Amino acid sequence: MSDNLKRAAADRAAELVTDGMRLGLGTGSTAAHFVSAVGERVRAGLKVVGVPTSEATREQAQREGIPLSTLDETPDLDLTVDGADEIDDDLRLIKGGGGALLREKIVASASQRMIVIADGSKLVSKLGRFPLPIEVVPFGLTATERAIVRLLDSLGMSGELVLRHAPDGAAYVTDGGHFILDAHLERIEKPNVLASTLNNIPGVVEHGLFLGLATGAILATGDGLVELGQ
Ligand code: 5RP
Repeated sequence: MSDNLKRAAADRAAELVTDGMRLGLGTGSTAAHFVSAVGERVRAGLKVVGVPTSEATREQAQREGIPLSTLDETPDLDLTVDGADEIDDDLRLIKGGGGALLREKIVASASQRMIVIADGSKLVSKLGRFPLPIEVVPFGLTATERAIVRLLDSLGMSGELVLRHAPDGAAYVTDGGHFILDAHLERIEKPNVLASTLNNIPGVVEHGLFLGLATGAILATGDGLVELGQ
């Protein structure tokens, strides 16, 4: 069921793609449906260029026959379509469940529009139930972890930080060669404050709070599509 909903949101987003667009291609199971839908349209003659947000998406887009570029060659994008782990009414997001948050945030920031596609279960009244991914450099992991805990304390927040592991049991390594700490916070009362202060900690590369980046969302529910923003 959920997969059909993801596909429905992705298909609607693919309808918004027009000839000549420079596209940011998101990562995750919902974004994969979008890449597949764009691939179908490209094989039918649509002319676009895509900038993938992960190596996994690059491989999929190549298989689909979507012409690809890098963000260095194509630094201004028209539209990025990506999934999310949580989205609130103000189009604030938690992303990074799939581990691609750093490239996703760089690509979204280079886009005129970012549309989030998701099944309706991702819409929340308050962010934070989904553990917040924090990408950190491996060097000094323990020191960085302690600095994050001190920051959370100072903000009156608490929650376990869990180093993400790959299925083989080793620490999960991102496309950028970093680790991810998943912060189990339950509620994020002030996303802006947390986002800006996390970015001040040496060793933190990026975090999964996407604030002011999404311009629209397409949420698929059992009752149909809900579109927010544009
Ligand atoms: C990857 C992401 C994904 O967009 C997010 O995890 C949603 O994934 P899915 O569509 O598989 O639920 O942020 O880093």
